Amino acid sequence: MSKVYFQELSFLKALLASLKYSQLFVLVDENSKENCYPLIGEYLSDHQIIEIVSGERHKTLDSCSMIWNALTNATADRQALLLNLGGGVITDMGGFCAGTYKRGIRFINIPTTLLSQVDASVGAKTGIDFNGYKNHIGLFCEAEAVLVNPKFHETLPRNQLVSGYAEMLKHGLIADRKHWQDCLNNGFENFSNELIQHSVKIKEKVVDADPTEKGIRKILNFGHTIGHAIETHLLNTEKALLHGEAIGLGMIAEAFISKSKGLLNSEQYSTITQELQKIYQSSKIEKASYPEIIRLCKQDKKNSNGQISMSLLNGIGEAVYDIQVEEELIEHALNELL
Ligand SMILES: NC(=O)c1ccc[n+]([C@@H]2O[C@H](COP(=O)([O-])OP(=O)(O)OC[C@H]3O[C@@H](n4cnc5c(N)ncnc54)[C@H](O)[C@@H]3O)[C@@H](O)[C@H]2O)c1
Ligand SMILES: [Zn+2]
Repeated sequence: MSKVYFQELSFLKALLASLKYSQLFVLVDENSKENCYPLIGEYLSDHQIIEIVSGERHKTLDSCSMIWNALTNATADRQALLLNLGGGVITDMGGFCAGTYKRGIRFINIPTTLLSQVDASVGAKTGIDFNGYKNHIGLFCEAEAVLVNPKFHETLPRNQLVSGYAEMLKHGLIADRKHWQDCLNNGFENFSNELIQHSVKIKEKVVDADPTEKGIRKILNFGHTIGHAIETHLLNTEKALLHGEAIGLGMIAEAFISKSKGLLNSEQYSTITQELQKIYQSSKIEKASYPEIIRLCKQDKKNSNGQISMSLLNGIGEAVYDIQVEEELIEHALNELL
């Protein structure tokens, strides 16, 4: 697993000095360029900036072509280093482009959203969306290092903090009841490095046990079968949700399925949904969208033999995976979101 550093940003200077590279490239979007690049500029050696347009709708092959073109035009060789400075879109796509350029160059992640700090930038999953399907094309590819610092939160819009908070709550729900409670006590502002660090630790432990998601790593996908389907369904519409906002809804729906399967008792289910519904409410789902959401669930990467398969909760702080879920039950679960 990549080494994750919870250090001052000045640590970057020593980190770069410890890596021998031929050229340094810094991948940004317009927001990370404006808000985050000035915070690290003084710690960088000579480099070239590669800028892409922000947002999930640009996590595409076209943006990858732009990045590969920039590397090619600069005659980057296999000793080049790519520094991904931004949210999960940048770390996912930058990692994918680095992992495939000339069969792989090294990359460092400096995640600048809460979501990318606690989730996207660690764990070696990289990729892009394709033909409207989320993260459809990608690689398992480790960052050389990840540098996490909450200073970047100062310029983050509130909804981005709410989005990242969903993944922290998820880490608590699937593996650590105390973390769930600590996150609820903290709320979604003023995250300490310790809370972020603990969330990353939970993810690391699961990933270390199963790096390529053959088994236990699937529990990290709790809330994501329905959450991704909702996110994809609303993408490019005026009702579009941030990733974590969609996962918040996905967790409510999948907690319902967990209860229906007898995995969660009613009390646990009420506690979870009451807390999640305080933050993640939606009037964005309509009955007319159910067939499309279910169709998208069928594309989920965890499915096998044409059956929809989910990671569910069997307690607060415990999860199970590879549970087959009938379409009718998904419809009932979506009713919880109306
Ligand atoms: N690889 C994984 O394991 C994994 C896990 C979870 C999520 N993801 C992916 O991560 C992506 C979502 O990541 P995200 O929520 O970080 O989205 P994002 O990268 O789109 O960033 C959100 C927005 O915040 C802006 N931004 C970034 N840092 C900022 C800062 N410090 N100040 C002001 N604005 C800033 C960005 O430009 C963007 O507009 C999704 O594509 C999702 O699939 C991947
Ligand atoms: Zn997620």
